[in-house]
Amino acid sequence: MNTDAVRSTPTPSTPSPTTMTVWRQSRYGGPDVLAETLVDRPVPSPDEVVVEVAASSLNSADIRILRGDPLLVRLAFGLRRPRTPVPGRDVAGTVVAIGDAVTSRRVGDRVVGEISGGGLGECVAASADRFASVPDGLDLATAATLPLAGGTAWQALDLGGVGEGSRVLVVGAGGGVGTFAVRLAVLRGADVDALCSAAALDVVAELGATRVRDRRATDLADETPDSYDAVIDIAGSAPLRVLRRLVRPGGAVVLVSGGTNRVFGPLGRILRAAVLSIGARRRLRSLVAVAKPEITAQLVALAASGDLQPPVERTFRRADARAALAHVDTGRTVGKIVVTA
Ligand SMILES: NC(=O)c1ccc[n+]([C@@H]2O[C@H](COP(=O)([O-])OP(=O)(O)OC[C@H]3O[C@@H](n4cnc5c(N)ncnc54)[C@H](OP(=O)(O)O)[C@@H]3O)[C@@H](O)[C@H]2O)c1
Repeated sequence: MNTDAVRSTPTPSTPSPTTMTVWRQSRYGGPDVLAETLVDRPVPSPDEVVVEVAASSLNSADIRILRGDPLLVRLAFGLRRPRTPVPGRDVAGTVVAIGDAVTSRRVGDRVVGEISGGGLGECVAASADRFASVPDGLDLATAATLPLAGGTAWQALDLGGVGEGSRVLVVGAGGGVGTFAVRLAVLRGADVDALCSAAALDVVAELGATRVRDRRATDLADETPDSYDAVIDIAGSAPLRVLRRLVRPGGAVVLVSGGTNRVFGPLGRILRAAVLSIGARRRLRSLVAVAKPEITAQLVALAASGDLQPPVERTFRRADARAALAHVDTGRTVGKIVVTA
């Protein structure tokens, strides 16, 4: 794929059929490092499709990659600048070209998937098997909210063994992953308590949680021990021992985030969790979520049926992509932020 071939100066002119505009970063930094840039339209390699992007949803992962923060991110994504310089990992749109070896897709298919980036551009090329189909009854802006945050929440609930009748606490329930964790746990038949910021209380209550409280007005050290089968920690600020005493013996704390070290990020907390879990009856399990199109497909089915209606705090136009990323950068998102063409 050659989406990254810069065709001209960073000032976009009227795109021709062979060019398109993308928001592209040439170094790590805040949203201001993005420039709207004219590049060649991608040509699919044999196993790829080209998707015309209708919508992309933003995640805190986009901010970490944009900023290269923690520094460990740069080892994985590129030392001086990200190898995929156009942010936007959640992509929903229409297939406009297919590679020679692709048999699973046709031009005109509506698809959604988590890819390595490119959602903040007109078109993106990615492996065909990264995408799930979107039925006509589901709008592409809603579909775009699903893959990364929904997939992470799904995998967190799996790791915590959450199912029918489970008692679950979601700490940090107000953001993208948090709102999906609450709703998906409710749909699994769990009894869900949630802690979130004051601004998110009403939104989280509407997702079906049994009890919703202000995270900053609640001291987890005061909670009754052994109260839950699983704790899903997305806020990442409570001490591990405090979280662990909340689950019953045999239960699990799933660590979705945590650790503010500028260089190593969550690695220290992950290591401490592993050490504390040696021989323990209450496990601390660190989540490393990966893109799973088969989970995206199940999320699409739930959204199409109306059971899953992801809360969207705000929708930005692609022309305002920097403002959209700046909003996510505040860390105060309630639900999801969507960017549409
Ligand atoms: N382990 C993995 O594989 C994995 C995968 C994806 C994401 N993550 C992590 O999950 C976390 C959430 O990701 P996301 O994409 O859902 O982020 P997001 O949509 O930007 O959510 C923002 C999060 O920040 C919290 N928040 C709200 N107001 C805040 C404030 N004033 N100060 C500090 N925090 C505040 C929110 O919780 P409340 O409103 O509930 O307070 C919410 O959990 C991130 O730390 C991300 O790195 C981990």
